[in-house]
Amino acid sequence: MQVNRDKIKVLYDEQTIRSRVSEMGREITREYSKNSGILHMVCVLKGSVHFYSDLLLNIDMDISYSFIQVASYSGSESTGRISVKSWIDEPIQGKDVIVVEDILDTGRTLKYILNYLKRYDPRTLEVATFIDKYEKDHFGIVPKFTGFRTDDKFLLGYGLDYDQSFRNLPFVGYVPIEEDDESDNSSD
Ligand code: IMP
Ligand code: MG
Repeated sequence: MQVNRDKIKVLYDEQTIRSRVSEMGREITREYSKNSGILHMVCVLKGSVHFYSDLLLNIDMDISYSFIQVASYSGSESTGRISVKSWIDEPIQGKDVIVVEDILDTGRTLKYILNYLKRYDPRTLEVATFIDKYEKDHFGIVPKFTGFRTDDKFLLGYGLDYDQSFRNLPFVGYVPIEEDDESDNSSD
């Protein structure tokens, strides 16, 4: 598909995103500050970059950071091929871990990440997703924290890309269906 900036319609504007993300920061603070444990938050690159940064600035407790980058290929549905480009560089055993995702679509990427992280024996392991495409079952993954729930359309901006473009739009948008003829099949 060809995407022109002027065809993109706004779904969540900057102000809506800002206030929801700061609310999520307060939810996480409330939930985790009663534990004495160490909170470790994992950013799933590249799509979560803006959400992760804004969210963590709204959490009023100490947090350790790590970043992982994986790519999934929806073209190989049956094998669910995932390639790992970089992985966590901090021990997470005994810690409270939250994996921060941009968008839960099929859930294949996150399922893979969670299965691996579980092996390191964190005290707790939860998911915060900016957007949940609620029509999908995500392999049974239920995020503990969700920014927005939406139906199944292709979204852009605030980290979400189409073919590596549009990540730096300060809002989340979509291309209305009549403009959208075909979609790309790789993502990160
Ligand atoms: P999964 O299908 O849940 O494994 O999604 C994998 C990745 O695909 C997500 O983390 C996003 O980076 C990307 N993705 C899924 N849906 C969208 C979308 O609507 N716009 C842009 N990227 C998406
Ligand atoms: Mg992603």
